[in-house]
Amino acid sequence: SLENQLRPQFLTQYIGQEKVKNNLKVFIEAAKIRNEALDHVLLYGPPGLGKTTLATIIAHEMNVQIRTTSGPAIERPGDLAAILTALEPGDVLFIDEIHRLNRVVEEVLYPAMEDFCLDIVIGKGPTARSVRLDLPPFTLVGATTRAGLLSSPLRDRFGVLSRLEYYTNDELRNIVTRTAEVYQVEIEDQASIEIARRSRGTPRIANRLLRRVRDFAQVKGTGTIDVELAVNALERLQVDPLGLDHIDHKLLKGIIDKFRGGPVGLDTIAATIGEESHTIEDVYEPYLLQIGFLQRTPRGRMVTYKVYEHFKMEVPE
Ligand code: ADE
Repeated sequence: SLENQLRPQFLTQYIGQEKVKNNLKVFIEAAKIRNEALDHVLLYGPPGLGKTTLATIIAHEMNVQIRTTSGPAIERPGDLAAILTALEPGDVLFIDEIHRLNRVVEEVLYPAMEDFCLDIVIGKGPTARSVRLDLPPFTLVGATTRAGLLSSPLRDRFGVLSRLEYYTNDELRNIVTRTAEVYQVEIEDQASIEIARRSRGTPRIANRLLRRVRDFAQVKGTGTIDVELAVNALERLQVDPLGLDHIDHKLLKGIIDKFRGGPVGLDTIAATIGEESHTIEDVYEPYLLQIGFLQRTPRGRMVTYKVYEHFKMEVPE
């Protein structure tokens, strides 16, 4: 399917994250030479930067199967045991949102990661006994938005820790161009650049904006995406020239209008604008910090002069 073609299958097709990619390439090659499973990998960073894609690439490069699940989906130790005992030697087990595993499940995971074994309790009460099961060697690939959300015993059991960074506009432009080829839609280079610039360093956003701009090109235009059509479409999508959407605007204007620019606590802002604190913290705030629009202080979040300039407001003393 198109969606399958969209995801790069091998490291050489993956654009950006050069440091992560070059290191993984070495670790994968070394594991293959030794004929071993790759060591466990923790991928962390803001949403939409390609953690799932990298996990599937790791499996492809290692010539193994990937099993995908997520922290909240594994409710009980038995759920995890079912997944682990079904693995083939060398397989990748991808656990998305791994910071949301519960404590009991996490403790079953430790010996599985460290010694490839599973301690399971059979029966209840005085006749209960513990049985140790051997597992095939496997690679756990965990994904989370922040490494700091993991307990340290879990974090310590990963041999490879890779932090994904926001993409540059050039990398995003290349991703947009590649995606347009997969969709077989014509796009002018200036239009790719415009979409890239408004994608907040995030391929998932770039590809989503491209799909919506393509809709406008198909219905309102000639089918080709030129820069004028792209800019018009992006304006209609309420994505401003820096890629900020109406929730970013609500967040920044909320801090200015109700708290004189801050500092103000995260939970207070969240309540004021009606968004979840952790959504602000994981999804919206990282990019605003990155572009220097927000600052974190011991007393809370503050907007910077850049926000006033962006909104063409007078910068207060
Ligand atoms: N599509 C989404 N992210 C990508 C990336 N990093 N490289 C290539 N294609 C992508």
